[in-house]
Amino acid sequence: MGPTATMGLVVVVALFCCTEGFIGMNWGRMSAQRLLPSQVVDLMLQNGIRNVRIPTAQSDILKAFQGSEINLTISLSNGQQPHNMSAARAWIQSKYDLFKVNNIRSLIVGVGSYPFNWGGMYVLDYDINWRGLNYMQDALNEIGLNQTNANIMHNSEELIPNITKPSEAAFRDSIKDRMSEYLRFLRDNNAPFFVDLRPIGDLERCSLDPSFAFPDNKSKLVIKDINGAVYTNGFLWQYDCFVWALEKLNFSDIKVVVTAVGWPTDGFPGASADNAGRYYKFLLPMVTSNKGSPKRPGAPIDVFINSLADEPKMKIDMLLSPSYRHWGIYRSNGQPKFKVDLSGQGQDIYPTTMKGIMRMPQRWCVFSGNSTDTYKVRHQVELACSKGDCTTLAPGASCSNLGFGKTASYAFNVYFQTHFQNEKACDFEELSYITDQDPSTEDCLFPVEVVRGNQLIEFSAALALHRPLNIRGVVLVIVLYIFL
Ligand SMILES: *[C@@H]1O[C@H](CO)[C@@H](O)[C@H](O)[C@H]1NC(C)=O
Ligand SMILES: *[C@@H]1O[C@H](CO)[C@@H](O)[C@H](O)[C@H]1NC(C)=O
Ligand SMILES: *[C@@H]1O[C@H](CO)[C@@H](O)[C@H](O)[C@H]1NC(C)=O
Ligand SMILES: *[C@@H]1O[C@H](CO)[C@@H](O)[C@H](O)[C@H]1NC(C)=O
Ligand SMILES: *[C@@H]1O[C@H](CO)[C@@H](O)[C@H](O)[C@H]1NC(C)=O
Ligand SMILES: *[C@@H]1O[C@H](CO)[C@@H](O)[C@H](O)[C@H]1NC(C)=O
Repeated sequence: MGPTATMGLVVVVALFCCTEGFIGMNWGRMSAQRLLPSQVVDLMLQNGIRNVRIPTAQSDILKAFQGSEINLTISLSNGQQPHNMSAARAWIQSKYDLFKVNNIRSLIVGVGSYPFNWGGMYVLDYDINWRGLNYMQDALNEIGLNQTNANIMHNSEELIPNITKPSEAAFRDSIKDRMSEYLRFLRDNNAPFFVDLRPIGDLERCSLDPSFAFPDNKSKLVIKDINGAVYTNGFLWQYDCFVWALEKLNFSDIKVVVTAVGWPTDGFPGASADNAGRYYKFLLPMVTSNKGSPKRPGAPIDVFINSLADEPKMKIDMLLSPSYRHWGIYRSNGQPKFKVDLSGQGQDIYPTTMKGIMRMPQRWCVFSGNSTDTYKVRHQVELACSKGDCTTLAPGASCSNLGFGKTASYAFNVYFQTHFQNEKACDFEELSYITDQDPSTEDCLFPVEVVRGNQLIEFSAALALHRPLNIRGVVLVIVLYIFL
């Protein structure tokens, strides 16, 4: 290591020294049963989670966190950005009491949009977001709430594609000017850079070996970079790509916070509870070790696990994988899906079970088996899937090998459960009936709905949604796959 590199290290360590990285949790709100905010607060406290990110600023939710000492990152959805200073002031005023009783560290302005995406598609979003962001921060500062930073989220699409080494990373030319302007804003407000690092998609994007996704030192791929940096996993690799990109714009003092990291358990080949368990087992101790990354050794790494529970109401489309609905650590019935030590000590333990979840009776709606008119069956399946979550039927997902009859049963049941087992919701033109015999197979769980918690009061966009809804497209893809 040369003298310049050593100097760099000393500066970086000094800048980020002496705080600990945290393991936070994303609580997405597109779940079927709408967990009660108080249930979630309890669960977080029991599992030692002290940082929570929610894609909403809904008042009843913020109230539930009062006195919990959990630090919050809250959000305004895309479309709710203030268009002028008076709108920003009015909004802050309406939430002022909740800001006073909670430690709200960040306010994400426009969750569900990535305004820095390249290609000119999101230019309009950028202007609205950028102005909204400034109005919000000004309104916060004006009223003495400058401990909250207004912010936005980022993803790897902002980096130049097809790189193999983090030192090659840089922001795309098309967004560099705007990015610099935005990074100055972060610096002025002591705010971190928020980025989603989802290994499955991003490794695919750069054609890297899948074993590289897991931080367990078993990777077939080892990437050596300048200054002796060695990468054996995608997380640190991606993290340092952003650190390098920041440095190239002269913002190496900005902290990076990972707003979403995790592994889905269904809806995609490689998405499974085993793989998710393996991923977290090595990722979380890496975070709590405070070793930092090769580019920022010793600097704490903050991550928000994505996510608390599955989100079957998450909007997906042709391009957004069905796996986006299956990132939960917990099933909808409140049971953890796999072992994960949320304290980051790497112990072989399950997180605490959610309390107070009530299941509906053990009843399912299934296909009668009458396939005289296959066109009619298909049509009914398509209808059922347009309202229920059929993503586990997608190629490579847990229920993708059911065959014709069971697939129809799966679709009918999903629709029935989505309607809280209302008997009228098991009426598929005489092709279905209700049973108490569990139709689940070894690989495929036929869900039973849980009793509804609270309602979604305020619309909040899905965490990852950044394209218009095309549910029909998804349904068609799934249905075509099933019957071809
Ligand atoms: C919560 O935020 C405060 C600053 O607002 C910070 O001092 C504290 O360490 C944070 N706690 C955790 C657990 O991250
Ligand atoms: C300010 O913006 C809000 C929306 O954010 C809009 O409803 C309102 O009409 C605007 N007020 C002025 C004075 O332009
Ligand atoms: C908030 O403002 C006070 C007073 O101007 C300043 O000392 C403090 O550093 C600011 N905090 C943040 C997080 O910017
Ligand atoms: C990235 O590499 C792949 C495969 O080598 C190639 O097909 C693709 O066009 C490249 N993308 C860009 C933006 O250079
Ligand atoms: C992987 O190797 C690094 C460097 O030798 C070590 O610090 C780390 O603890 C190892 N991780 C695991 C999970 O074995
Ligand atoms: C099977 O379905 C066909 C077409 O929908 C219908 O005509 C027939 O009566 C059904 N058979 C039974 C046994 O329900």
